Amino acid sequence: MSNYHIKNLEEYYQVYRKSVRFPEVFWEEIAEEHFQWYKRWDKVLEWDFTKPEVKWFQGAKLNITENCLDRHLRIRGDKTAILFEPNNPDEPSQHITYKQLHARVNKMANVLKSEGIQKGDRVCIYLPMIPELAFAILACARIGAIHSVVFAGFSSTALATRINDCDCKLVITSDGSYRGSKTIDLKGIVDEALEKCPNVSSVLVVNRIDSKIEMKEGRDKWLQPLLDEAFDECTPEVMDAEDPLFILYTSGSTGKPKGMVHTTAGYMVYTAYTFKNIFQYREQDIYWCTADIGWITGHSYIVYGPLANGATSVMFEGVPSYPDFGRFWEIVDKHKVTQFYTAPTAIRALAKEGVEHIEKFDLSSLKVLGTVGEPINEEAWHWYDDNIGKKKSPIVDTWWQTETGGVMISPIPFATPTKPTYATLPFPGIQPALMDENGSEIHGNQVDGRLCIKFPWPSMARTIWGNHERYRDTYFSAFQNKYFTGDGALRDEVGYYRITGRVDDVIIVSGHNLGTAPIEDAINEHPAVAESAIVGYPHDIKGNALYGYVTLKETGEYRNQDNLRKEINQLITEMIGPIAKLDKIQFTAGLPKTRSGKIMRRILRKIASGETTNLGDTSTLLNPEVVQEIMDNVLK
Ligand code: PRX
Repeated sequence: MSNYHIKNLEEYYQVYRKSVRFPEVFWEEIAEEHFQWYKRWDKVLEWDFTKPEVKWFQGAKLNITENCLDRHLRIRGDKTAILFEPNNPDEPSQHITYKQLHARVNKMANVLKSEGIQKGDRVCIYLPMIPELAFAILACARIGAIHSVVFAGFSSTALATRINDCDCKLVITSDGSYRGSKTIDLKGIVDEALEKCPNVSSVLVVNRIDSKIEMKEGRDKWLQPLLDEAFDECTPEVMDAEDPLFILYTSGSTGKPKGMVHTTAGYMVYTAYTFKNIFQYREQDIYWCTADIGWITGHSYIVYGPLANGATSVMFEGVPSYPDFGRFWEIVDKHKVTQFYTAPTAIRALAKEGVEHIEKFDLSSLKVLGTVGEPINEEAWHWYDDNIGKKKSPIVDTWWQTETGGVMISPIPFATPTKPTYATLPFPGIQPALMDENGSEIHGNQVDGRLCIKFPWPSMARTIWGNHERYRDTYFSAFQNKYFTGDGALRDEVGYYRITGRVDDVIIVSGHNLGTAPIEDAINEHPAVAESAIVGYPHDIKGNALYGYVTLKETGEYRNQDNLRKEINQLITEMIGPIAKLDKIQFTAGLPKTRSGKIMRRILRKIASGETTNLGDTSTLLNPEVVQEIMDNVLK
């Protein structure tokens, strides 16, 4: 039996049991059968969660681009690898075949080399969703450089922090980007960021919007002329299994973003294996994930997972609302998309616009629908099932994280019966545990607790760049010998998991992880602000929205200061990006605190969510009087 393609529930349980009883045999078989290695591993797994240290396929030598590109050339060289759909529907789609992708990646790899980039160097990629973004990622992997993609919605300050944190030498960007009817001056943002990044010696610029931009002499170069000159063969660098492949930043509960480090072999094996099973991928399929490659979903399930399987992966530059709310469905119809993977926030936004945007299009090609990034509410789940899947396409509600590299809990279509709002069962190889607040595992079903994973899996992040101690403290110290996800979950009577949301200071807004600390740091930069606290509250489309409580240094007439609200949001936009702007800002005389000086966010969260009576235990409050004042002036 090949355990690569699971076809029914019985087989799932069989494979799952094997993956838990004999994890090394299980992963070794998958690694052996489905990938190309220059040298086989000496040891499948070595691990110690107390350090923490995890090594998969030690001693093996490979290059991930050989697995994503070269090996497909002979059998599917003329098959479309990347199907690029531009922002403007009148601009033609691009069908980039495996042969073409191979050549472009090789050329870009040679350009990077000629810019002095070597194995182990960090390269920052700050690009919109255009094919060059995929080429750049794979070009780095080809030569063993570590890519650090920064989502092109982040501000110059956020970009500079990320460039400096991992000391990138080179930045790949574009003159600008299209976003619906607007253009964004990406190069201007990069220029501003680089004023604070002394170690960046070169910037390669893609011409996407034909805008007039400043090119800094000696630092900036247009990419295309260099590609035109470059040779289209570049021998892949021989990489160790545990060599870093990329760094991707995620928010945390302190101000500094965490550069999650993913390594080569385990990441490749796990993303390819999950891709094939979760989407029940078949050779003729046209797979589309609407995420941005600036997030982990795009890394694993637009680029590496699909390409390792020789799939056709759609890459969409635009937004779901341009030129109108039918755009997604028009693309599904146009390219006969078979698997469609998106975020609950997009589903809710589209549901609000009504079904007339769907009815114009033929969605009968769809076989599997996916969601990711945040809990999906029941209403959105049914809307998706009824209107997009027409009740015949299973919905895979996939739970995972930047840190996990690949999907951890998800139905397998046509095998696992789905249940709205449940991510259902752990993937083969994944051993979840629910923990109580005292650190004990909660056994049995119909229970809820903090979600941990008690055994390593191949695509887990290995460290935080430059700060292994923070990696240990954040993920391996709350519960002994377990990886703590930061999420709460419940397990129902048949063992299905439902993720209930974050239990830390991270708030998921429109599927984006936002740490409260970096936002508070940005607000506190304002000269008029004394202190602030951010909480999330339920929002129909975004899932959560951000509510800020801000106290000012001058307490005079403070409540209705609309200018100040604008300035605060402007500051957040400059320091993080527009995704972190607050929906509501309430100026308060004080913030509720415990006697030890900690802000009681629990109370603030309840008030922001409209709760006024049952605030829970307030006996430890130092200043109960501020609570009443806050409740009296809460913003509806
Ligand atoms: O809280 C969980 C939520 O998103 C967090 C991870 O965010 P990020 O690292 O940005 O990665 C998102 C894409 C993989 C998780 O800790 N989350 C993700 N998927 C789900 C989810 N919550 C509920 N259901 C999901 N399917």
